[in-house]
This record gives sequence, structure tokens and C-alpha cells, in this order.
Amino acid sequence: MATVSHPAFWEDLYQRGGDGWELGGPAPALVDFVETGPPPRGRVAVPGCGRGHDARYLARRGYGAVGFDFADDAVRAARALEAQDPTGASFERRDIFTLGGDYANAFDGVWEYTCFCAIDPARRAEYVRAIASILKPGGWLLACFYPIRRGGGGPPFPISRSEIRRHFAPRFRFERAFPPIRSVPRRSGQEWMVLTRKTY
Ligand SMILES: C[S@@+](CC[C@H](N)C(=O)[O-])C[C@H]1O[C@@H](n2cnc3c(N)ncnc32)[C@H](O)[C@@H]1O
Repeated sequence: MATVSHPAFWEDLYQRGGDGWELGGPAPALVDFVETGPPPRGRVAVPGCGRGHDARYLARRGYGAVGFDFADDAVRAARALEAQDPTGASFERRDIFTLGGDYANAFDGVWEYTCFCAIDPARRAEYVRAIASILKPGGWLLACFYPIRRGGGGPPFPISRSEIRRHFAPRFRFERAFPPIRSVPRRSGQEWMVLTRKTY
């Protein structure tokens, strides 16, 4: 059976309706943040973008949004939504761990939601390097981490607030860390937002 590091694992979930993460629209945590104090405009990457609702929302709000996902079903669905109702977002079928070569220092910002919890926890340091590599110096990473809880398997693989700091420092300087104004109800109390800047 395919593991979470292989697109087949996720494509199987999309195909058999196992995509219980699907919100049908942008994440409330992202919308509230952007509506109340948007990060600087520019080119923004959305890793593990799924059907692309967050990338499309960011494009509507004036960001140059690019969604990346390695599941063919996800990218096809995101492109179909974009074709029906264009926002300017674009979508690429890519493994996020391979982006550094083509997208070195290419983005002003990254929005992370439910991709970090989807990767193998043994690859978290690699994830931090991959995200740092695609950001410009001083670029921002806005992330809503989920699920904040102790123990248990995944996906979604749990994380604690102290682990978030441990993994992202020193490549990122933490500017803010707070519970989102609104969570998806079933994720309430298990989401944690951070706004960071790439240091090097
Ligand atoms: C839990 S889903 C969340 C999707 C989307 N962020 C959302 O909130 O609807 C995780 C997504 O990450 C994608 N993914 C997991 N590992 C990936 C990788 N290494 N490269 C690209 N996409 C990946 C999966 O294909 C899946 O679409």
C-alpha cells in the first residue's frame, strides 16, 4: 500500500470520497487573517493545496497565488474550479519536496494549512528546508497548524506548539502565534496560527 509520501495514497482517498478534510471553500482561519490584517501582497505558494480553495481566495484578494499538490485528482479539480470561475490562481502538480530547484527564492509568502500534517513526520525538517528554499529572504510564512494534540497516528499527524517552534527556528523568526479567530468547528481548539519570517 502507498504511504503518505506517494501521490497514490492521496489519489486513492480523493477517488473513494475519503477526503474528509475538504471544506468546499477557503479556510476560516485564512479568511479572518487576511480580512483583518493581510500579509504584504506578492507571489504566494500554497503547498498541498488540494482543490485549491485557499489559493483561489488569495488570488481574489490580490495575491499571485500558485497551488502545488502531487495528487492528480486534486490539481485537476482545482483547475476545473478555476476554469469555471477564474481568480488568477494557478496550479501545478508537484511534490513540494522538489520545488527548491525551480522555485528558489521565488515567493514573497507561503500559506500552510493541512499539508504539514499530511506529510510523514520524519520529513518535517525536510519540509522546513523546502519551504525556506522557495521563499525570498525575509519572505513570510503564515501557517495554521492542525491538529495540536499529543500522540496518536495520522494523517493528520499531530504536532505540539513547542515542536512547531523547534522545527521552524532558526530558519524562521516568529512574529505572532495565536489561536485562529474562527476554526472549522470540528477542529476547534486544535488549530494554532503562526506568522513567521524567513531568516536565511
Ligand atoms: C489533508 S489534504 C489537505 C488539502 C488542502 N490543503 C485542504 O485544506 O483542502 C493534504 C493534501 O496534501 C497533498 N500532499 C501531501 N504530501 C504532498 C507532497 N509531498 N507534495 C505535494 N502535495 C502533497 C495531498 O495530495 C493532499 O491533497
